[in-house]
Amino acid sequence: MKVLATRRYPGPAFEELGDVEVAPLAARADVEALIVANEPVDADSFPSLRLVANFGVGYDRIGVEELRRRGIVVTNTPGVLDAATADLTWALILATRRRVVEGDRRVRAGEWTGSWADGFLAEELTGSTLGIIGLGRIGQSVARRAVGFDLRVVYTQRRRSEEAGLADYRELEELLAESDIATIHAPLTPETRGLIDARRLGLLHDGACLVNTARGEIVDEEALVAELVSGRIRAGLDVFAHEPHVPEPLLSLPNVVLTPHLGSGTRQTRESMTRIVVDNVLAMERGDELLTPVGA
Ligand code: 8YV
Repeated sequence: MKVLATRRYPGPAFEELGDVEVAPLAARADVEALIVANEPVDADSFPSLRLVANFGVGYDRIGVEELRRRGIVVTNTPGVLDAATADLTWALILATRRRVVEGDRRVRAGEWTGSWADGFLAEELTGSTLGIIGLGRIGQSVARRAVGFDLRVVYTQRRRSEEAGLADYRELEELLAESDIATIHAPLTPETRGLIDARRLGLLHDGACLVNTARGEIVDEEALVAELVSGRIRAGLDVFAHEPHVPEPLLSLPNVVLTPHLGSGTRQTRESMTRIVVDNVLAMERGDELLTPVGA
């Protein structure tokens, strides 16, 4: 089966692909399987296409509906990136809440001149309320890690599901008003695009912290920038509406920690993602059932 991959994906599993070519997504009549990282696929450019194997759990940019309509299967990589993404979420929660990056900048700038006892205080993490928007696999991994920090955990989700007592259900608005830290773990869909709009951001209390390791488009980015520029809230952001563009006003703000979409970015996780991608391609080649078809 002729496979086109948009890059050499990390890890040894990639070597198991027989007829693979690494090239940009330009029109090709012979390609039967594409390996992409959430890149839009124009089905007209690939008349022989049978499979799009996405390197990532989120597949919001690929154009799944149209591909499905044409009988092209899309697969993703669920499960293997939950821990890495939850860990990064906690890195952002801790960094933002305890002003770690601000402190680092102060030291490097030679601004640490007074005593440790003077000023520069943060808000305590222990005992605060964590609001999880989307208690799927990643949201649950975040909730499990909260136990060690003695947090009160609430969650909101389209379909209410008390996941083994991990968190108490709230409506989205209630959750935002109640949370000291609100963290987003929902997929980007037509329902979640712009979900956290200006009005809802306004429900966060002064000093609260918004963390986003899901998709930038779930938040009204312009409204978020305005809130952050005002200094009213804090944020830890791994994702942005127009990556790799980061809104300019954020770059100089002390109350926001910025990372370049690192959620799944560990060697082990990325290699596991490639493993699933390759296993899906090999399964289709053999005519076996695919491991992780989307929306099946
Ligand atoms: C990837 C992600 O880095 O899985 C996802 O949805 O956002 C990340 O794991 C991204 O999809 C690019 O492949």
